[in-house]
Amino acid sequence: MKILIVGASGTIGKEITRLLENDHEIIRAGRKGADVQADITSETSIQKMYEQIGKVDAVVNASGGANFSPVTELTPELNEKGIQSKLKGQINLVLLGLQHMNAKGSFTLTTGVMMDDPIAQGASAAMANGGVKAFVKAAAIEMPRGIRVNSVSPNVVEESWDRLHTFFEGFEAVPASRVALAYKKSVHGLQTGMNYEVY
Ligand SMILES: NC(=O)c1ccc[n+]([C@@H]2O[C@H](COP(=O)([O-])OP(=O)(O)OC[C@H]3O[C@@H](n4cnc5c(N)ncnc54)[C@H](OP(=O)(O)O)[C@@H]3O)[C@@H](O)[C@H]2O)c1
Repeated sequence: MKILIVGASGTIGKEITRLLENDHEIIRAGRKGADVQADITSETSIQKMYEQIGKVDAVVNASGGANFSPVTELTPELNEKGIQSKLKGQINLVLLGLQHMNAKGSFTLTTGVMMDDPIAQGASAAMANGGVKAFVKAAAIEMPRGIRVNSVSPNVVEESWDRLHTFFEGFEAVPASRVALAYKKSVHGLQTGMNYEVY
């Protein structure tokens, strides 16, 4: 399969790439230093990326962010990052990618544990995650040509624990390699409309 991995250089993206690269042709995408440059917050950039790489059999996204902020300090401006990046960025990868996806191909997006198990300062990311999950479930029933769409909801990963542990006190971090298996399941399997929880 020809697989586009957006965010391939990241903590989770690296493990997804490691898991898939022996059996597939991988195209790594990111804002810098990748096979193809793309910023998911820009529709023009996404379009250009798809035009550059041609048809694909799978798109995996392991990028997208949101601001952490207490709700009382969460301004519309701060919230905008989650909307532009984690929410719209991911959904636009599907909307703009459909015509570049081969029949029976798949899209796999990323949500996260904090939409189900809320943490302080996590409302903006949870909003985006919930939107992505709902989009995936609803869009799956209308996908043309046997194309599937799923998301993966990782717990906080062990490799990010030093950076994130103060937000996730009492959570049991999971290895990124275990999270990567859910992306493999999505790419190789037949299920659609799923949000695979790796908690
Ligand atoms: N780490 C965790 O514990 C955890 C837990 C739950 C959910 N998640 C979610 O999993 C995803 C990946 O997390 P991570 O920790 O692996 O992230 P990470 O280590 O920060 O890596 C992010 C990757 O995405 C790329 N990227 C960032 N912004 C981009 C943009 N606007 N357009 C295109 N590429 C972009 C980065 O490369 P460039 O800088 O070159 O663009 C990098 O390859 C995120 O959606 C995150 O919310 C992570």
